[in-house]
Amino acid sequence: MSQSASPAGSAAEPGEPLRAAILGTGSVAHLHAAALRDLPGVELVAAADPTAQQLVAFAETYGIQGRYAALEDLLAAEKVDVLHICTPPAGHAEQTVAAFARGAHVVVEKPAALSLAELDLMTDAGRTAGRGLAVVFQQRSGSAAAHVKGLLDSGALGRPLAALCQTHWYRTADYFAVPWRGTWASEGGGTTLSHGSHQIDLLAYLLGGWSAVHATMWRLQHDVETEDLSHASLVFESGAVASVVSTVLAPRQSSLLRIDTENATIELEHLYGHGHAHWRITPAEHVDAVTAESWRLPDREVPSGHDALFAEVYASLLGGHGMPQIVGHPARALEIVSAMYASARDARWISRSDLAGPGMRGSLAGPIIDARPRRSA
Ligand SMILES: NC(=O)c1ccc[n+]([C@@H]2O[C@H](COP(=O)([O-])OP(=O)(O)OC[C@H]3O[C@@H](n4cnc5c(N)ncnc54)[C@H](O)[C@@H]3O)[C@@H](O)[C@H]2O)c1
Repeated sequence: MSQSASPAGSAAEPGEPLRAAILGTGSVAHLHAAALRDLPGVELVAAADPTAQQLVAFAETYGIQGRYAALEDLLAAEKVDVLHICTPPAGHAEQTVAAFARGAHVVVEKPAALSLAELDLMTDAGRTAGRGLAVVFQQRSGSAAAHVKGLLDSGALGRPLAALCQTHWYRTADYFAVPWRGTWASEGGGTTLSHGSHQIDLLAYLLGGWSAVHATMWRLQHDVETEDLSHASLVFESGAVASVVSTVLAPRQSSLLRIDTENATIELEHLYGHGHAHWRITPAEHVDAVTAESWRLPDREVPSGHDALFAEVYASLLGGHGMPQIVGHPARALEIVSAMYASARDARWISRSDLAGPGMRGSLAGPIIDARPRRSA
């Protein structure tokens, strides 16, 4: 394993490239490395993974010099300005706190943590170290989401009223054969946390603060501890009410958002990422043509993705501004999802303020309605 001489510590000097490192070199790490390779002002200096063969292949592919079996070796040997955490979720909290303690900013894959209590530790450690935390919800990125958020925030579309937020994905038993998937202890939750949270996060990014949720959790097919389907009603501070469905049981896969406001219907249908062609804004009958035309998506298209999100993160860090607004409210999706699990567990509405109460910030584990056909003995 290589060792670079510089100590771990503070962020880069003005004009110097930011030194990035990647922890975990499995599937999603490739999206991080490919995005970083194309970004100006960033040097991908190190990676760590206990799986030696995979680590070497990964490092060779992206020309990464520093190669380590464990995070502590990497942090002891390298000066890292930004650590990208691409490991299974059970390690995220401890790894984030360790990186903050060595002066790095952290970009952590979703889900950020297994519980709100863990996420509290992470954000507290970041605050103490004066470093930023970005959770990878890349669907917030891209020119269309920015445009629609601008329209909603400006009030041009009127009050948001009704919404649909649907994650209809499809996963077979092979997907759950990976040891860290399907258990409360290592994945943290089921399809609501692991898949639905992307659309839930995007909906909340567009609509803002939420106030209450009521949910049910179901296991209809897979041999897992967690749920493979959930339904929820989610109420926003604006008064808008969303119907939220998350599942891995949908042969025709689709990720769908629909927001009906006083003046328009906004629709987004895609799968794992969106460009302009996936969005539609339909004006209400009373909206005049000039106003509707002013809502058109901009000519310059930036598709959503890890690359688009990281471009914003690094531009902001390089400019000395800390983490950008696009990664603001890093806890919001986990709050909503935690409240959904608590609602299903306690069979009642959970308000945002309830999350401050005892037993509300720990493990998401709870009873799931098991509606799988009984197997004959
Ligand atoms: N944002 C997205 O669209 C997206 C997509 C896929 C996965 N993810 C998330 O990314 C994370 C990783 O998922 P994945 O599919 O890449 O998993 P994976 O199993 O393919 O890869 C995880 C890697 O982490 C390594 N690892 C485990 N413990 C480690 C440790 N302590 N130190 C260093 N390396 C360690 C493993 O050896 C493995 O190579 C999960 O949180 C997942 O939910 C996000």
